[in-house]
Amino acid sequence: MVTCFLHTCGRFLSRKSITVEPLEMSTAISPTAYNYKVVRQFAIMTVIWGVVGMSLGVLIASQLVWPELNLGLPWTSFGRLRPLHTNAVIFAFGGCALMATSFYVVQRTCQARLFGGPLASFVFWGWQAVIVLAAITLPLGFTSSKEYAELEWPIDILLTIVWVSYAVVFFGTVMKRQTKHIYVGNWFFGAFILVTAMLHLVNNMEVPVTLTKSYSMYSGATDAMIQWWYGHNAVGFFLTTGFLGMMYYFVPKQAGRPVYSYRLSIVHFWALITLYIWAGPHHLHYTALPDWAQSLGMVMSLILLAPSWGGMINGMMTLSGAWHKLRHDPILRFLVVSLAFYGMSTFEGPMMAIKTVNALSHYTDWTIGHVHAGALGWVAMVSIGSLYHLIPKVFAREQMHSIGLINAHFWLATIGTVLYIASMWVNGIAQGLMWRAVNEDGTLTYSFVEALEASHPGFIVRAIGGAFFLIGMLLMAYNTWRTVRVAKQAEIEAAEKFVVEGAH
Ligand code: HEM
Ligand code: HEM
Repeated sequence: MVTCFLHTCGRFLSRKSITVEPLEMSTAISPTAYNYKVVRQFAIMTVIWGVVGMSLGVLIASQLVWPELNLGLPWTSFGRLRPLHTNAVIFAFGGCALMATSFYVVQRTCQARLFGGPLASFVFWGWQAVIVLAAITLPLGFTSSKEYAELEWPIDILLTIVWVSYAVVFFGTVMKRQTKHIYVGNWFFGAFILVTAMLHLVNNMEVPVTLTKSYSMYSGATDAMIQWWYGHNAVGFFLTTGFLGMMYYFVPKQAGRPVYSYRLSIVHFWALITLYIWAGPHHLHYTALPDWAQSLGMVMSLILLAPSWGGMINGMMTLSGAWHKLRHDPILRFLVVSLAFYGMSTFEGPMMAIKTVNALSHYTDWTIGHVHAGALGWVAMVSIGSLYHLIPKVFAREQMHSIGLINAHFWLATIGTVLYIASMWVNGIAQGLMWRAVNEDGTLTYSFVEALEASHPGFIVRAIGGAFFLIGMLLMAYNTWRTVRVAKQAEIEAAEKFVVEGAH
């Protein structure tokens, strides 16, 4: 019945979908060249920061198994390395992936060189400077203590300048486009850029007291609400909307098929950005936040399932008629499996937003499992697939050095993700149930330490899963090095000439 339903909806949407016109030859051929240099730089740094961020992930996962790995030093303690891990994977790895792909996609779909000349280069070096400053200050213990916004105020200001420059380059390119319409991928990238700017500015309103310490302008429940409005929309716009922009370009390209339904992609876009912004309070269930705000967050999260799955189905159905390619193409496999994990985590999220479910899942490893279903399964996998498509293009190679290594990477990443999230489900549910179990006389059945001991096997499995994922990234780094090592300058310049994009 479900298949029948999808099929019927599908026929409606594809029949009525807008046909995207191929670009005109006359406007497409131009003596000017794309700016691929900045794309190459961001692509390489994505791989490098991916290895660094995930090594930190494996290290902190191992610290939870063997606490001796904290080394008894403040700089290497779990509490300081954890935000270093989150910043490295989200902003260094994820941020570089988003910048590489958005600069690539906006040029090719707008048939225009990046706007602003050297400004794109400033975005690259500025962004790397922010990352290096984060890598220095976080282990030293300088933090605003707001999750995913830990950086202190001088770095926040630098980040604002870099981000505004990024927006100028991106939207400047859209404005000087030689194509009639703005391809849907750019809508998603554009929303990610604008909303991230707004979130960063509002959540980082702080009163500096010294060069390395500031206090939030907000207090109490207001501070918590602003923080989780930021936190949730960092997930919604940084970790989701930007990567959907990536998905809308690279899935059709790799599959060699147009987007299944262009109309659905527009509905997907407006529904997603309208709903995401309201769901933040699901991070603050059963807190001092007014009850109505918690319920609003819960309801909006449940409704969010619809556009999320709309996007996932649109991506999956783009493979109609091309499913056989999955047998031989590990890049396409990365992209399709990333969509499957996207669908899974956006089903799990709304369920966890239900207050009674959250009463069990909150504070447990279930949340950590959910995070990494999205982070490893969706964000990392869609980035990896897209980069395997993009790297040979911008280095003027036919394909990556070794398809066999891409295949090995795919299996390591998939098995690693499954080990990670399955162990965290088991741990999370066990923890939730053990914490709430009470004896007849009202005393707790289990102490906290007993619940911790029960989590130990899960921590080991998670560390193994993480190591699998990391080994895959190391294979990618080797494969990338072998691919770019043989790139020839003359061929690279030839590849930078404008090419005609077909209909998507
Ligand atoms: C080799 C891969 C990875 C491993 C082994 C790993 C491991 C970990 C560990 C052990 C934690 C701390 C959990 C806790 O406090 O109990 C964590 C937190 C986190 N990681 Fe990863 N991670 C990996 C990759 C990633 C990636 C690629 C992303 C994002 C794109 C990511 C995003 C996060 C986030 C957002 C948190 C904080 C979760 C929360 O506060 O609820 N991780 N990770
Ligand atoms: C419809 C989509 C989604 C909904 C409604 C949703 C909902 C939730 C809920 C209810 C929590 C637990 C809050 C708590 O108990 O503290 C959570 C945590 C989290 N989710 Fe999702 N989720 C969605 C999709 C995603 C995706 C796709 C990702 C990653 C790419 C993601 C990343 C995270 C992170 C990082 C946290 C942990 C935040 C923290 O406590 O540090 N979510 N989400």
